[in-house]
Amino acid sequence: MSATELPEKHPVQTEGVKTAMEAIYNWNYEPEIDQIRTLYAKALDLQWIAIKDLDWEKGVDHEAFTRTFSLGGIPVTETSFWKKLPQETRWQIARRSAGFMLSNFLHGEQGALMVAGQLVSAVPHMDGKFYAATQTMDEARHVEAFAAYVKLLDDVQPISPGLKKLLDNVLSVEDWMLKAVGMQVVTEGLALYSFRDMRNQTDEPLLKQLLTYVGRDEARHTGYGIKYLNQVVPTLTRAQKDTIEDFAFEASRLLIDQRTGYSMRDTVMKLWADAGIDPVEAFQAMTSERDVIAKALERRGGRMGPISGFVIPTLHSIGLYSERIAGHFREMWTANMGAEAAEHMASRSKELPEDLEAWVNEGYETL
Ligand SMILES: [Fe+2]
Ligand SMILES: [Fe+2]
Repeated sequence: MSATELPEKHPVQTEGVKTAMEAIYNWNYEPEIDQIRTLYAKALDLQWIAIKDLDWEKGVDHEAFTRTFSLGGIPVTETSFWKKLPQETRWQIARRSAGFMLSNFLHGEQGALMVAGQLVSAVPHMDGKFYAATQTMDEARHVEAFAAYVKLLDDVQPISPGLKKLLDNVLSVEDWMLKAVGMQVVTEGLALYSFRDMRNQTDEPLLKQLLTYVGRDEARHTGYGIKYLNQVVPTLTRAQKDTIEDFAFEASRLLIDQRTGYSMRDTVMKLWADAGIDPVEAFQAMTSERDVIAKALERRGGRMGPISGFVIPTLHSIGLYSERIAGHFREMWTANMGAEAAEHMASRSKELPEDLEAWVNEGYETL
């Protein structure tokens, strides 16, 4: 029996990726970066326990879950196509499609857990190590909580190839600043934005609660990346900044570039077919109701998507969004959506919310 095998209880499903990284000692134990020391103290204060602090007893409210289901931020439940489906079919589609999204959140959390553990060794400042240690604990709790919720919906579905490649890249790269931009800025930024989006759209009480609790932690994790990189980026050469920007662009591309062939749409179509719906017909029917979807999105304040709505403003705020890299993003959007939509995306990338924690809590302070 290999060391990774546990006796019998679960079949072994492990997979390795080779990593190389230098572990850095720091013999100075005095605080060096006050903002990060403060964030560490806050993280200690705001620890929570997934099995105790969330209301698991009632399970998933199927009706609320199905009524307010959305697909990657698209409010499909507003279309007449959806409304005509029998309730049982709606539930099957909602639980399988959301199960796919949440399974990927879960796998992403595992990646975050391992990267946070690496950062304890890889970052050079003691405050950075302290903070990464609290994040490691947070991510373990997120894996635990998402795994428990997915189990109430469906089997855990496999990781999407784009996300797997991104996690492999971040885990195996040596430079801690590349790990930080790949995980703390791109992956955490995407997670934070997507969790908040799903939380705001669902009426399912347990999911709302879970995403709010997790989102509060993710706001700190993104804050760590921003505060830490803000300290070091101004000291870097143009060539070093280019390397970090390229890494951030590649990470974003793996998540959203439809040319990679890993599109979420293909997987979702298969899930719908399994639920007895002709996916081509379904997508056509919903596309023909564009006006309904556009109106619903407008009511929710429009939709930017996590990369243009959050990751790019973050890169901008830490000085990692040069004209050169903006050109790469514009080129990707043009290839995916056409020149007009690309210009629209480029011009709409907004300012980052000043207080990320308040932004996550908005309307949910008492939850
Ligand atoms: Fe997390
Ligand atoms: Fe995180």
